Amino acid sequence: MNPTTPTPLRIWHPFSQPALDPTPLRITHAQGVYLYTDDGRRILDAISSWWTIIHGHCHPAIMSAIAAQTAQLDHVLLAGFTHDRIEELASCLRKILPRELDTIFFSDDGSTAVEVALKMSVQYWQNIGRPQKNSIVALEHAYHGDTVGAMSVGARSAFSDPFRSFLFPVHRVHSAYCYRCPVGKTRATCNIDCADQLARLLEEKHSEIAAVIVEPLLQGAGGMIVHPQEFLQRVRQLCSEYGVLLIADEVLTGFGRCGKMFACELAGVVPDLMCLSKGITGGVLPLAATVCTGEIRRAFVSEDRSRTFYHGHSYTGNPIAAAAAVASFRIFENEPVFERITRISQIHQQRLAAIENHPAVGNVRSIGTVAAIELRADDLGYFSSLRPKLYDFFLNAGILLRPLGNVIYILPPYCITAEELHFVHDRIADALARVPEWSAPPRAHAAS
Ligand SMILES: Cc1ncc(COP(=O)(O)O)c(C=O)c1O
Repeated sequence: MNPTTPTPLRIWHPFSQPALDPTPLRITHAQGVYLYTDDGRRILDAISSWWTIIHGHCHPAIMSAIAAQTAQLDHVLLAGFTHDRIEELASCLRKILPRELDTIFFSDDGSTAVEVALKMSVQYWQNIGRPQKNSIVALEHAYHGDTVGAMSVGARSAFSDPFRSFLFPVHRVHSAYCYRCPVGKTRATCNIDCADQLARLLEEKHSEIAAVIVEPLLQGAGGMIVHPQEFLQRVRQLCSEYGVLLIADEVLTGFGRCGKMFACELAGVVPDLMCLSKGITGGVLPLAATVCTGEIRRAFVSEDRSRTFYHGHSYTGNPIAAAAAVASFRIFENEPVFERITRISQIHQQRLAAIENHPAVGNVRSIGTVAAIELRADDLGYFSSLRPKLYDFFLNAGILLRPLGNVIYILPPYCITAEELHFVHDRIADALARVPEWSAPPRAHAAS
């Protein structure tokens, strides 16, 4: 080889360990719920490509909106400028957001939407003359993204361990993980006692707390943990009582994922700030938003420039991403999206009921289009030894499922048919039968 020829640039894949993981599959195209590989395989994307693709891959309305936009305006900064697509998107979102949330700040992805919400909350109190209210409360098992601020509010884990020393401290309180109740209750007898810890914390420290951040009703990466609606309602009530802002991170739960447009809507709760991303563009292009109340916005409007929110990203409000988001919004208006969501939800409930007493199953839970099966395992958590076996098993069956350790979950595009969804549940049932064999300790080699 010519000594001056550079070696190929290696792509560092996210959440991947090249020493252990197989070579990434090469996807050539995608349509509806399917991904197609270069060696002719068809894989059912049962996790909507990291929870993004809500209407299915390459939905023609979104693809053509993107194409039309590319002929008109590619990108322009949003500081000192605006454009039709982002204004149109803001008016679409206005129709579905709670009336109180009348201001929107655009960014790029879920993590940046969370960073914005955290910074806005802290600066809000500073701007209104209460700078001592500058700490954040977050839940056990939380996940809010991988940037440093978002990681700080996420649960401490092997993911965040190397960065422990520079994550900012937060007040950590119980989440309503009913299967592993943090206060030893059962759902039948509990009175959302897990929230008492938050009540005590706010009573004692509300004068130094800016905000409480939650994933409303569903903690995703922490294990697809479904909370009772009463938990979110109690958190809202406590935040109001003690004058603390409530941030609802709807990055995963928004845009129909949990059965209504937003999870907060299911619980009848209006947060002070809401983080949106993933499904906002139908999942096809990066775009995010943090929406907040007029009261928060007004605290930043001043002739004193130091009150400005000095935050922005190069691609804030990108017109092509905004065109995709408007097209996704129109799909909600023009297609029976919520009927699809309801059908998915019914199939999940029916299929989970059929396996909940299986000996390999510890707990089943579902909300809207999300179904989760927590397997019994000796090694719980993301690094459970069951995880790679399950992943390979499903992939060999033509399904993309990425179990969160010992938790298998389905989070499909809404266009999945009943037959396709049953196929996924059937393969999960097959996998349950293999769990004892996968869980058994490796047998010692017989001496020959
Ligand atoms: C609830 C929640 N918040 C934030 C994020 C981070 O989003 P992103 O990966 O787009 O930065 C995620 C990602 O899965 C999420 O589930």
